[in-house]
Amino acid sequence: AYLGIDIGTSGVKALLIGENGETLGEATAASREPVRPHPGWSEQDPADWWRATLEAVDALAKLYPDAVASVRGIGLSGHMHGATLLDRDDNVLRLAILWNDGRSAAECAEMEAALPALRLIAGNIAMPGFTAPKLVWVRKHEPAIFEKVAKVLLPKAYVRLLLTGEHVEDMSDAAGTLWLDVAKRDWSDELLAVTGLDRSHMPRLVEGSQRSGELKKELIERWRMTGEVVIAGGAGDNAASACGIGVIRPGEGFVSLGTSGVLFVSNDRFRPNTAGAVHAFCHAIPDTWHQMGVILSATDSLNWLAKITGQRAADLAGAAEAGFKGPGEEIFLPYLSGERTPHNNAAARGAFVGLSHLSNPARLAQAVMEGVAFAVRDCQRVLEDAGTQIGRLLTVGGGSRSALWLKIIAANLKTEIALPEDGDFGGALGAARLGLCAATGAAPADIMVMPRIKTVIAPDATLASAYDDAYARYRALYPAIEETRS
Ligand code: XUL
Repeated sequence: AYLGIDIGTSGVKALLIGENGETLGEATAASREPVRPHPGWSEQDPADWWRATLEAVDALAKLYPDAVASVRGIGLSGHMHGATLLDRDDNVLRLAILWNDGRSAAECAEMEAALPALRLIAGNIAMPGFTAPKLVWVRKHEPAIFEKVAKVLLPKAYVRLLLTGEHVEDMSDAAGTLWLDVAKRDWSDELLAVTGLDRSHMPRLVEGSQRSGELKKELIERWRMTGEVVIAGGAGDNAASACGIGVIRPGEGFVSLGTSGVLFVSNDRFRPNTAGAVHAFCHAIPDTWHQMGVILSATDSLNWLAKITGQRAADLAGAAEAGFKGPGEEIFLPYLSGERTPHNNAAARGAFVGLSHLSNPARLAQAVMEGVAFAVRDCQRVLEDAGTQIGRLLTVGGGSRSALWLKIIAANLKTEIALPEDGDFGGALGAARLGLCAATGAAPADIMVMPRIKTVIAPDATLASAYDDAYARYRALYPAIEETRS
């Protein structure tokens, strides 16, 4: 069997697949919520990722002892961009600064001024979510810590270090650091120099489907595995989800409704569009790239509403569905953590507009789902500006469990949304598939197949034109609100 471990912001999922790629079982363990000591900050303790990883795999080993004993390959998926700072002895120097942390906007501007070719080499704008600007922030505000930094790892590379004892990263996750020359698939000395670092601070690079190391002996014993266990390079969670859902050929894409929201399209070559804050990254398999638009608060927005109204997010979504009669009057801007695509503005903040005495939790929930759909539509707009043709999209993530949400998204994107049959096709499955490729040498194209589709949600024409008006109102709000805030 093969094991996929997905280190998510809210928890770790471990998933087992068999020789033919079929899912055998899974187990999860929750992580502690990120700490937010200031608005826009978001940090997590790397020790907690490791605790949750052990908990999830221990649980899996208890549930499926025989399958776990037969594991030959492991793949890792992880939330991207997080800066995990290690000293010379691999001790963690401070809490990891996460992908949805927006503190380093000034440092992004400084990096772009210091290296005018930055966007050209990195293929991406310097955005505070990425790793490199976080290190410039640490250099400025915590110089004693910066002095001690010997290695910078992304979340899943930190977990890999504890699994294998080695510092290794895969191309798809490395592309999100802003230290990678994304076209060349190699670290860039110039990008590293701008942040006061060099190659010695970086892990070794491998492709996601290649071997990165072997599982330590004590862990093989802990999980009663037999024989050598290969650890694949793995992937950043979005590229891993793409592998899980079979999106690896040019033009194939998916929309992910997780904590963050992502519109992802595979590309045959490196296709940057920095003007629209499009992310242009390496895919997890050789000679393949991808673009994506990223919004920072997708299900995170609904979870926030659930928290402040004292309800469950699923109940709120159900209430919105029960009362749905087309676009609502309330409009929500989902910028709780600032926004990446298309605004590249870490300081942006969310808003409810159009409130009345009729506004209740169900209506606000609908507005939140619509606001997220509009934000995904913004991503579609800038990907298309980059010349990308987006056809039918698959969907993954917790939000895809809401039929209403998918209907609103299909109407807004004017695209068919294909919902896979029940099962888990996210990062953990993609990671397990990468583990299988690394352990057996199987060709990724043979393994990364699309799931069977349960429903295809076609865009409803009447709803689509009603949403054109609502989307125009939504688009007008961001500049107006930003103006009053500055
Ligand atoms: C991608 C991004 C998020 C995280 C979420 O650029 O920041 O999707 O990977 O886990």
